[in-house]
Amino acid sequence: MSKQATSGLWDGLFVDCQLATLAGEQGLGLVEHAAIGWKDGLIVFADAMSALPDAPQALSARVESARGRLLTPGLIDCHTHLVFGGDRAHEFDLRLQGASYEAIARAGGGIASTVSQTRTLDDDALLAASMPRARALIADGVTTLEIKSGYGLDLENELKMLRVARRVGEESGIDVRTTFLGAHAVPAEFSGRQDAYIDLVCTEMLPAVAKSGLADAVDAFCESIGFTPAQTRRVFEAARALGLPVKLHADQLSDLGGGALSAEFGGLSADHIEHTNPEGVRAMAAAGTVAVLLPGAFYALRDTQLPPIAELREHGVPMAVATDLNPGTSPLLSLRLAMNMACTLFRLTPEEALRGTTVNAAKALGLADRGRLAPGMRADFVIWNAGKPADLCYWIGGSLAENVFARGNALRRWPS
Ligand code: NIG
Ligand code: FE
Repeated sequence: MSKQATSGLWDGLFVDCQLATLAGEQGLGLVEHAAIGWKDGLIVFADAMSALPDAPQALSARVESARGRLLTPGLIDCHTHLVFGGDRAHEFDLRLQGASYEAIARAGGGIASTVSQTRTLDDDALLAASMPRARALIADGVTTLEIKSGYGLDLENELKMLRVARRVGEESGIDVRTTFLGAHAVPAEFSGRQDAYIDLVCTEMLPAVAKSGLADAVDAFCESIGFTPAQTRRVFEAARALGLPVKLHADQLSDLGGGALSAEFGGLSADHIEHTNPEGVRAMAAAGTVAVLLPGAFYALRDTQLPPIAELREHGVPMAVATDLNPGTSPLLSLRLAMNMACTLFRLTPEEALRGTTVNAAKALGLADRGRLAPGMRADFVIWNAGKPADLCYWIGGSLAENVFARGNALRRWPS
């Protein structure tokens, strides 16, 4: 066939599927006896087979039956610290013996320990350490991954982390979104000089990061063991002046008004939010700030303060779910397991959990081109060894993804 003759054909087509399109404002948008077709990395058809414009074989040279299996949008992990050196398994031991996360941090462990281990690695070594973690997430359905810096804490090492995060995307074939988290902790060389470090973040690091084009957003750790609301505000003002959107580690261990602070700056999200007060929830609702729930950190720290789920529902704040994959508080390598935990620990419904890792996670990253199965969206989707959406939350761990498509490219051989 000549190129001319094939140019109208789709690149691929699944028939006999059950689609969870997530296309509406609510619910899962289930379509039974459905088909999905894609071309040039974008979805061209996602609807009932009876609505196909022609016979399947006439629409694509590559057609496969999904044999009734479930297809969803590719999962979006909208909050990770996936790029880091070393690990902190010894802190797991310490916590089991009764030490708190805060006490470990104050004693020089915690984030500072990962900073030391990350600074020693060059780009290639840091990439090599990070890729297995990315592969684990992708293998069970992740097609968009947010990665934060924040273990470099000086310009050179923060830029290194952001470069490596971008390379994770290039090497793995999925889309990586990067977030500058220079205000994650005070580096040892600034000990006792928090404000001086924030000066550096605002006047030198942020402008250089913005100029590099390596960051899509800016985050901060607003907490008793992190930065004060006033310091966070300075970081947000600097980010705004540079045209970068913000998001926040907010109210995880105490209520510092972080939810409202993120909302005040039109934040894409406020994350953790176990201690966020009703005023903060209302501010988030008004600003359209997404609540990113991180049950892995809640679980690992054996936290007991639940995020204000009922209030978030009542005020219609979109809820996302992410792994918070990091070496300290959430060494969690499965977004599906985070969904399970969101149901079991936070009492989300399986439907909320799936909206939380698709359409709402896209919103938490400011992305309108994914998270739903509809014509024009990126052809990021997963074919699951499952027949219904609740299965994705029901099974605890393991791997259920039969194949993962990112921009129309299959992770595993396809057609199979
Ligand atoms: O989201 N709380 C701050 N940041 C991470 C933890 C980072 C770390 O302990 O290395 C979090 O939980
Ligand atoms: Fe985090």
